[in-house]
Amino acid sequence: MVDPVRVAVLISGRGSNMRALSEYRRRDPDRAYRIVLVASNVPEARGLVLARRLGLKTWSLSHKGMERREFDMKVDAVLREHGVELIALAGYMRLLSPEFVKLWDGRILNIHPSLLPLHKGLDTHRRAILAGDENAGCSVHLVTDDLDSGPVLAQAQVRILPRDDADSLAERVLEAEHAIYPLALEEYARALREA
Ligand code: GRF
Repeated sequence: MVDPVRVAVLISGRGSNMRALSEYRRRDPDRAYRIVLVASNVPEARGLVLARRLGLKTWSLSHKGMERREFDMKVDAVLREHGVELIALAGYMRLLSPEFVKLWDGRILNIHPSLLPLHKGLDTHRRAILAGDENAGCSVHLVTDDLDSGPVLAQAQVRILPRDDADSLAERVLEAEHAIYPLALEEYARALREA
């Protein structure tokens, strides 16, 4: 791949999915994407420290005290400065403004810890257990204006065990997230380049 798609990963927390995306890319320089920026709305996010250790460029700005749209336009400006073509949300705990979603239409992926369309929003693992679901899992999807409702690109199932609580289930689902997110991003980036 001569010209990998330039990806920004947006995080708010520990950044384990960001790490999985970075490591997958690192294992083979011939990947269809490359991470050019890790950006966060939480300047003290642990994931930013991890990103810098991985040799990735980081940027952060607290959203506090700012209108949603105003903050998103600052993010948009930084992404454009870095020539970003595709955004991977990875534990980005911030709703995006409709203006931002429109500007990046078809260019924002997210990983969600449930088998969408089941259990949109937060607290997914507890809700899956309470609902008596046989399987939990995770989904990579395109971001649209409707929260966690864009087209699903990839999913993995994780069996819910009788002894599971939300934490033990979250741990196994996270492993599945790390496995599918890089593959889905790679496939999407390849399709973008070939379009
Ligand atoms: C993951 O479970 C992801 O699915 C959800 O937020 C969590 C982020 O974890 N959107 P990490 O920051 O990637 O470790």
